[in-house]
Amino acid sequence: MTASAGVGRDDWEREATRRTGAGAVFDPYPRYAELRTLGPVLPGSIPSHFGLPDPVHHVFGDRPHFATFDWRTTERVLKDADTFGNGGLAPMNVRQFGPVSLQSSDGVEHRRYRMLMQPAFARRGLAMWERWLVGRLDSLIDEFEAAGHADLYYAYCAPFPAYVTAMAFGVPAADVELFSRWAAMLQIGASTPEGADEASRNVVDYMSGIIAERRREPQDDLISLLVNSELPGEEGGGTASDEQILGLVRNLMPAGVGTTFRTLGIVLITLFERPELLARVKVEPELVPRVIDEVLRWNPPLAWMLRMTTRDTVLEGVEIPAGAIVHAGIAAANRDPAVVSDPDEMNPDRPDLQHLSFSAGPHFCVGMQVSRLELETALSTLLRRLPGLVPDPDADRPEVTGLMFRMPTGAPARWA
Ligand code: HEM
Repeated sequence: MTASAGVGRDDWEREATRRTGAGAVFDPYPRYAELRTLGPVLPGSIPSHFGLPDPVHHVFGDRPHFATFDWRTTERVLKDADTFGNGGLAPMNVRQFGPVSLQSSDGVEHRRYRMLMQPAFARRGLAMWERWLVGRLDSLIDEFEAAGHADLYYAYCAPFPAYVTAMAFGVPAADVELFSRWAAMLQIGASTPEGADEASRNVVDYMSGIIAERRREPQDDLISLLVNSELPGEEGGGTASDEQILGLVRNLMPAGVGTTFRTLGIVLITLFERPELLARVKVEPELVPRVIDEVLRWNPPLAWMLRMTTRDTVLEGVEIPAGAIVHAGIAAANRDPAVVSDPDEMNPDRPDLQHLSFSAGPHFCVGMQVSRLELETALSTLLRRLPGLVPDPDADRPEVTGLMFRMPTGAPARWA
């Protein structure tokens, strides 16, 4: 792969992944370790420390930037939402999500939206997602099983999260491809401003119809739940407006789709590199959740979170002015030797398995239970249906690439 090419099925996707570092960075971890020794907080964005452009430079390029690399400081930034806020990030998110979103709200407003969404994402809401997931995974395997080989990143990992999310939104199966492309175009940092505008407009047009239908005639899906539940704290005890629902929906699309399929792809090629672990997980299915969690620690799909300081502050002795951008380096923190022993080892048996890959504090991933369900079911189903699964010896060896978003270059496999 050349330094100018990203990862994807077409030019648009390759260009989008290239913007977030695909094809330019393969193993960022030695550099993270080096940066951590220079201090827990350094001036400059994370891409600047790799000599790469910041994908959101066009929005925040004129502000001072700082980045964290150890566990303690990264966790502190994520948890201290009064000082390291999300509200100031609105200019970055507004093209994609409009004026309302979980990721650009703070405090009471943010809590209200989280409470509205919680029932669909907590354990008791998982049956709704599972209903669409199981059948889709089996039908995807049915499509390629007889061939005896496939690139599982594209044939298996990529299609199912968009399908499950689209079904939860009440999108007809015929429009899933369209929905999937819009979800990719709404990804912060990956899309161009024009691409984000276009996808945002299309989603508003498309989903407004579904929202109106669900207000008239509720069904058993996420949109019906959102439009018919009381929005906590709303004056007079009302429900959320169309504008609010459309903001939450546009935030959910990229948050729930790309993260999940890139993680499963990374899990697969991590297993392909470790034949003993692959053989073990085939006969010890109870190991699946730990393998996924350890891969999420060791090589997460999102490398940092952005925050904007709401006031002047001092972080680990470094003075940071109000209005500065702070990159909370979760991928670097996950390999902090002060918290994780032998952090560069991928070891699902480690007793100290913990990570910040779903973030921490009030913006902690709302979809964590859904993504665990999707990832665990997808890996278990694949291993059960294709017990002879091995990496394809005739294909190029896949690698994990990218800086802001991490992804595999593919996951070519064979089975007998
Ligand atoms: C392996 C899969 C996933 C990973 C690694 C992941 C990671 C994250 C991270 C790191 C954040 C925190 C952002 C921040 O602190 O600013 C986040 C937030 C979020 N995630 Fe996930 N996510 C995953 C899957 C999902 C899924 C499946 C959904 C929905 C179906 C989802 C929906 C969201 C939403 C809506 C937010 C915003 C929460 C807020 O700002 O309060 N994510 N995710």
